[in-house]
Amino acid sequence: MKKVDVILGLQWGDEGKGKVVDVLTPSYQVVARFQGGPNAGHTLEFNGEKYVLRSIPSGIFQGGKTNIIGNGVVLDPVLFREEAEGLAASGHDLRAQLCISKKAHLILPTHRALDAAYEAAKGSAKIGTTGKGIGPTYTDKISRTGIRVGDLLHPDFRAIYDRAKARHEAVLRSLDYACDLSELEARWFEAAEYLKQFRLIDSEYEINNALAEDRSVLAEGAQGTLLDVDFGSYPFVTSSNTVCAGACTGLGVAPNRIGEVYGIFKAYCTRVGSGPFPTELFDETGDALRSLGHEFGAVTGRERRCGWLDLVALKYAIMVDGVTQLIMMKSDVMNDFETIRVATAYEIDGERTERFPYSVEGRIDPVYREFEGWKCDLRQAKSYDEFPPQFKTYVEFIERETGVPVKIISVGPDRSETVVR
Ligand code: IMP
Repeated sequence: MKKVDVILGLQWGDEGKGKVVDVLTPSYQVVARFQGGPNAGHTLEFNGEKYVLRSIPSGIFQGGKTNIIGNGVVLDPVLFREEAEGLAASGHDLRAQLCISKKAHLILPTHRALDAAYEAAKGSAKIGTTGKGIGPTYTDKISRTGIRVGDLLHPDFRAIYDRAKARHEAVLRSLDYACDLSELEARWFEAAEYLKQFRLIDSEYEINNALAEDRSVLAEGAQGTLLDVDFGSYPFVTSSNTVCAGACTGLGVAPNRIGEVYGIFKAYCTRVGSGPFPTELFDETGDALRSLGHEFGAVTGRERRCGWLDLVALKYAIMVDGVTQLIMMKSDVMNDFETIRVATAYEIDGERTERFPYSVEGRIDPVYREFEGWKCDLRQAKSYDEFPPQFKTYVEFIERETGVPVKIISVGPDRSETVVR
């Protein structure tokens, strides 16, 4: 029986999962998203075109695959429709390739309003969410008041919707948050009808049957491990389990059915929104990473905060995810750097530690190791042997420190700019 391979971001999201899933999908028959929602923005570039996927799995571009939106995902019909119609307009046949779990939860217009209201109420302590209603939708799921995709088929759906809406409106009133959702609501109901043309399934059966029939399955994570609701830098996290175990609960796959775990990281770090970021750079090197790496949010357009690679955090992510292969992205961004730094430990209140701390609120001074820059264009390399020695030293240091091989190195946004070892 086949196993499910999982691909995950190991930092604060935006590691470049879209591109790698697209590179990996030719060898998989099923690609499934297991958590998150339209807070994600998976960017793919090929044949000179750029696409951003939010809720639809990245396997959609390959043709002939089964793409599944799993039960662990939260789905906004309006944003889903925009995304699906955009793909259909560029010639991708979605109906034959995409199915959606009936157990995935629906993001309502009032969830988006609640997201904004909670953020406004937090003031300077705000999380800096993507504003897509993610937190309030997962809150309803856990408090057993959520609405699922399968409920759309219920004859009394309008009553189910109105009950949830009334509950949300009471909270919005208590937060003094005024908004007019009538236009969005009308579009929401049209989009909910549109959603029904897709195959609405019990994705746990679909996936386990695929495994039993020896079909290969890739589970595609969204966000990153350091945004996990349990293990990330809480409370500055997203509201789902972005770790590998999230693929089990978000798809209905047993832990012993997990195979390879691909962990994807950038050769430096970025973060959007608030929250601790020990290796953040506030100088011209941070600015260079941002402009050379085009570090602006795919969903919100926000500037990403940039800093050096953090091995303390990376090793922590590898541990909780059980990563078996590493994939390194965007090293080409540092092509012209004289020196490159990597944090190998933290100093907190004068004490050195290699552990990712419970709370990263106070002052953390990273302990850095410095490397000579490679000062050449990595994008020209077609194989690992063609990389300069300074770059190989960097890669092999990461492998030694983490104990996990770096199997794929991406040196540019296009599918073709990928070195596999
Ligand atoms: P939410 O997921 O919209 O509730 O946002 C919670 C936190 O996760 C915020 O700091 C967001 O910036 C961050 N976040 C959510 N989705 C992504 C993503 O796809 N990439 C990077 N950061 C994300």
